[in-house]
Amino acid sequence: MTELGPPLALMAELTHRCPLQCPYCSNPLELLKAGAERDTAFWLGVIDEAAALGVLQIHFSGGEPALRPDLAALVERATTRGLYANLITSAVTLNEAKLAALAQAGLAHVQISFQGARPETADRIGNYRGGHEKKLEVARLVTQLGMSLTVNAVVHRQNLAELPAIIDMAVALDADRLEVAHVQYHGWALKNRAALMPDRQAFDQADLLVSQKRQELQGKLFIDYVVPDYYARAPKTCMGGWGQKTMNITPDGRALPCHAAETIPDLTFDRAGETPLRQIWFESVAFQTFRGTSWMQEPCASCDLKHIDFGGCRCQALALAGDARATDPVCHLSPLHSQVLQMAESESGADVREFVYRRV
Ligand code: SF4
Ligand code: FES
Repeated sequence: MTELGPPLALMAELTHRCPLQCPYCSNPLELLKAGAERDTAFWLGVIDEAAALGVLQIHFSGGEPALRPDLAALVERATTRGLYANLITSAVTLNEAKLAALAQAGLAHVQISFQGARPETADRIGNYRGGHEKKLEVARLVTQLGMSLTVNAVVHRQNLAELPAIIDMAVALDADRLEVAHVQYHGWALKNRAALMPDRQAFDQADLLVSQKRQELQGKLFIDYVVPDYYARAPKTCMGGWGQKTMNITPDGRALPCHAAETIPDLTFDRAGETPLRQIWFESVAFQTFRGTSWMQEPCASCDLKHIDFGGCRCQALALAGDARATDPVCHLSPLHSQVLQMAESESGADVREFVYRRV
């Protein structure tokens, strides 16, 4: 393994509060209430420490980070310290004055989630009436104010037919980047898997469309594509490798190697503000447990790809195989792979349309 540097990015999960109720939300099943959130002084300290550690980018995330009244102050501190600041938002609570303040504070990039291309689809999925129109309005303001825009579209059985229109929408909004991400089945998404799982044919069509549009829109729109894990042969390199690229700080201040790491039993997580970020990154047990390849079992341990995908996703291995040290079962070399594929194919044909929404 090459020598470990500092994290490239810090994910600052400022709050779990969110006006939307997407059925595939990746936040923990038990959300933290507003009273558990850390205050402005805490986050300013985290930003200072991250910059000193050598972090390059900060992603303000949630829940909905724009619900925090101190967001512009945090962005300003981050940009003053030389960090590239990105806001990951549902956009429905933003307006021109708030965006102008964020732009003034140095915000470079805004990523807005869209739940579809048609208001009826999108508002039903996010369970928020009027949300889609509001997102379009905010997206236009983002580019007018000179910030870069990413359109993020999580796709699944109930909106995949709108993928061509989602791509057109990203072009019309003058986005720099479109992220098309098939649902990743963690957290709340597991409760809605039968309502979300696409069938193989829909997946193949989406795959083809993305390849064609990547060619056609080269130089105009960059398209990132996250395939549906269960239909893949090889797993994704989750988080760019455990404890190698990213550190997440939860709304109550715990430092995690990925957003779902708390689902893994027997791992304990240090708190920022109590333990220095540098020490957490380089020395904590939680960040070292699955870092690199020495923890691996077969078939990963003797696989040529182990330094590329690092055995896939630990949280998915736990969810599907019951063992966070197992090979991610979406890998075709996992003994559980055929079961996962069968389950995906059977759920894709389920007669389930209603979502289980999370009531906060
Ligand atoms: Fe990756 Fe492990 Fe599968 Fe090899 S066996 S491709 S390292 S998940
Ligand atoms: Fe935790 Fe993939 S989400 S390692």
